[in-house]
Amino acid sequence: MEYSYYNPTAIQFGKGQIKSIVNFISKDQKVLVVYGGGSIKKNGVYAQVVTALDGYTWSEFGGVEANPSVETLNKAVEIIKGEKIDFILAVGGGSVIDGCKYLAVASLYDGDGWDFLEGKKVEKALSLGAILTLPATGSESNPTSVISKKSTNEKRYFASPLVYPKFAVLDSSVMSSLDDRQLANGLVDAFVHTCEQYLTYPNTSLLHDGYSQTILKGLHILAQDWANRKTQLWQENLMLLANQALNGFIGSGVPQDWATHMIGHEITAFYGLDHAQSLAVVQPYLLRVMIEDKKEKLLQMGKEVFNMPQNYEIVIEAIEYMYQSIGVPTKLSAYKTDDKVIENITKALESHGMTALGEKGNITLDKVSKILEMSLKPFNL
Ligand code: NZQ
Ligand code: ZN
Repeated sequence: MEYSYYNPTAIQFGKGQIKSIVNFISKDQKVLVVYGGGSIKKNGVYAQVVTALDGYTWSEFGGVEANPSVETLNKAVEIIKGEKIDFILAVGGGSVIDGCKYLAVASLYDGDGWDFLEGKKVEKALSLGAILTLPATGSESNPTSVISKKSTNEKRYFASPLVYPKFAVLDSSVMSSLDDRQLANGLVDAFVHTCEQYLTYPNTSLLHDGYSQTILKGLHILAQDWANRKTQLWQENLMLLANQALNGFIGSGVPQDWATHMIGHEITAFYGLDHAQSLAVVQPYLLRVMIEDKKEKLLQMGKEVFNMPQNYEIVIEAIEYMYQSIGVPTKLSAYKTDDKVIENITKALESHGMTALGEKGNITLDKVSKILEMSLKPFNL
């Protein structure tokens, strides 16, 4: 085992924690509060932020969309540069937080901020903090940002230790206004994040596997307990599980896959599926196509997570059943696409240099075509 692990984000977990943001932002910093389509103005979160920021110099930027676009974000870059903002406060889900990570780097750069999505190394970034309103992505305490470019149907990511939020407020009472679609999306995204770092091939760490299995089991319990999704107990557990699924620890020093995500991002970029919806239509078929590579971990997952020690194929069905039981389709044919879908996705992956995906680099474009082909069939034969 050999790895570095670093996570500097202070986690402020529990009810009433929004007011604790004053411990992390000094009064002489000019703050920009960034949010999405306005849900925070209806559910009381914005009001709590305004109260907390009493005595600060601050302004706001709203309208960051789901799957945040560089086109929208570049308007905020101008504001940050013009008003000499020192601190960015993200109030929202993964899209707003990812958007703020982009703002943090693009605002201190003279060129086109999209350069960072094309691989330019981040050398400096403004400070940011996050008030999470939708548990799913783990963006609140990780170094990654996923940004879309509408004009070219692209969705790409960058990562830098400089964009870890300084703090993340995880107060599950802000989740009461989430609808079923977003709760289910959050559960599926966190489940797939854990799988991307676990469902590969056997490793030697007793801790990493055990921890991943605990997260997967927890998410499976929440899916089975879907009827109680409006309770505080259910919601705060999702908030903690989703956070731990992608704060970097379970993936450190172990093989990682991420092919489901890379294919899913291209599907969202072309056809607008929610992030988690795109994952649920890829993962089951990816597991089937790559079954020879995945079977040992699938068997382990069956035994440890689903209590199904019989065989590894049935585990894929258990995953599908779990997503479907909370209303997330597992077939791309459930969504509106077009007859160019396979061509569009494989060409986009190719142009982004993603022709050898997966933990062994053996998920090639012909395998991606096969995965999509299977997902496009209305029934599993
Ligand atoms: O825009 P608002 O009004 O806030 O509404 C949002 C949005 O419509 C709404 N919402 C959020 N909190 C709410 C709420 N509605 C009512 N009550 C609340 N408390 O939910 C909708 C979806 O929000 P969004 O932020 O887009 O969802 P999510 O957190 O799932 O983020 C998805 C984005 O994160 C990226 C995805 O690709 C996608 O762009 N990811 C980021 C990752 C990372 N940074 O590590 C990893 C992930 O794998 C993922 O790729
Ligand atoms: Zn994800």
